[in-house]
Amino acid sequence: MRTGLLIVLCLAGTAMAADDGRQLVRLPPAAESTLRAEMRANMLAVNDILALVAAGKLEEAGARAEQDLGQAMMGRHRSLPFDARPGPHMPPAMHQLGIDGHRAASAFARVAASGDREKTIAALPTLTQSCVACHYAYRLR
Ligand code: HEC
Repeated sequence: MRTGLLIVLCLAGTAMAADDGRQLVRLPPAAESTLRAEMRANMLAVNDILALVAAGKLEEAGARAEQDLGQAMMGRHRSLPFDARPGPHMPPAMHQLGIDGHRAASAFARVAASGDREKTIAALPTLTQSCVACHYAYRLR
């Protein structure tokens, strides 16, 4: 019984890998490690923003969104060596998804700064839309 389940799971895993339509993108190792570090910080920021909104701290949520996910983040890697900058090594459409995400976070920040709780909650999914769009389209390995 258990072996049967294991086989089914293995087959499901193989099928998923074969159906994975994401585009493989090759980044220089240094750029990949910059990207991964930024991604982990993204995750932390999203979690903190959710907690701040839940606690009714809308202005703080907006400030975090702008500082850690918004347009304030753009160009932050400009002073790094070229090989350590993810953006210029991405296909243009992927880079654009990143830019769209920063813009969406800044738009969310403005809604949160208005102090309107209903509107801020309604805007929450716009924070994660670009994460999902990019992760479903591209992979590094
Ligand atoms: C422009 C594309 C893009 C956007 C936008 C994006 N990511 Fe990523 N993210 C990636 C890629 C590519 C990887 C590596 C996937 C792989 O390993 O193949 C990644 C990996 C990650 C990882 C794993 C980090 C590690 O240490 O390996 C986390 C966590 C993550 N992303 C969170 C987020 C969150 C949260 C957002 C939105 C706020 C986001 N990402 C937006 C492209 C993106």
